[in-house]
Amino acid sequence: MKKVISVLLVLVMSLTVVGCGGDSKKDDPNRPLKIGFAQIGSESDWRVGNTVSIREAVAAEGWELIFVDANQMQENQIAALRDFITQGVDYIGFAPVVETGWDAVMKEIKDAGIPVVMLDRNIDMPNRDDYYATWIGANFVDEGERAAKWLVSYLEHVGRDGENINVVELQGTVGSSPAIDRQTGFNNIISQHSNINISLSQTGNFETELGKTVMESFLQQQGSDIDVVFAHNDGMAIGAIQAIREYGLNPGEDIIIIGIDAVKLAFEAIIAGDMNATIECSPLLGPQFVAAIKDLRAGKTLQKITWSNWTDFDDLLYKVYPDRFSSVREFVATRVY
Ligand code: AHR
Repeated sequence: MKKVISVLLVLVMSLTVVGCGGDSKKDDPNRPLKIGFAQIGSESDWRVGNTVSIREAVAAEGWELIFVDANQMQENQIAALRDFITQGVDYIGFAPVVETGWDAVMKEIKDAGIPVVMLDRNIDMPNRDDYYATWIGANFVDEGERAAKWLVSYLEHVGRDGENINVVELQGTVGSSPAIDRQTGFNNIISQHSNINISLSQTGNFETELGKTVMESFLQQQGSDIDVVFAHNDGMAIGAIQAIREYGLNPGEDIIIIGIDAVKLAFEAIIAGDMNATIECSPLLGPQFVAAIKDLRAGKTLQKITWSNWTDFDDLLYKVYPDRFSSVREFVATRVY
């Protein structure tokens, strides 16, 4: 009997040592962390800038980053998240391509005890707040509203506020938070202006090439009856500009072009007169991502929403306010994405 008890004692002690070893490893503040990041893809300049920002911020801490580019496919992201669990990462960063369909994998991550920091886009599932520490991103509804407010003010400024205005919309990825919310925001404002209507709306998946293809089809259907392109990102606006020029119309003049993101290419198109406005959405979320992980490591509880930082450069009415033109040129020179 004595022998059995001492064997059990040794077993319990060795298990305790293993358990303590794991915990003390986690608790050592100097131990480099292992971070898993499930990125959406590389569908736009915004996304590429976002990836660089995350990579740089994590590398600056000397932490290990396991980075997965899911090529805009939900199943790839789910597989990456499961792999992070298997690899025993300390924290997970996750930018979900669409809002729904994550319930099972989020529960698995929670069961594994790995804290999640959501970045850029969010998920939609019952009690979602229980499944992540914080979400860091932009107010996409506000971006859609700002795009529409810009349009309203521009039309007033050029004396077209009495005209019927025909808008075509290039949506982002179907089911993604920026596509849903930017559309909502834009509609919130134009619903107050009976002369502004969306006549055609289709997804270009946030991609330049697809944006161009969809715009070609819009032009075939409505040609010069189109007054405005509202693109959910600048990449699709650039694709639309190419389609409009090939169709024989002048982008930025015959058709007003509004994008979102404020990437370098959009500023260049605005300076060239091909595009009229872009709404700021900063991809430089790496520093806020790292700051959130440091806070969690220090045992802090975070707010469920952390708004991303962005520069409010107002709008790009440089044709109407030429004095702003030089500042746009200065601004674009500093743009890294
Ligand atoms: O989720 C943010 C959006 O994703 C950006 O506006 C777009 O360019 C990117 O693909």
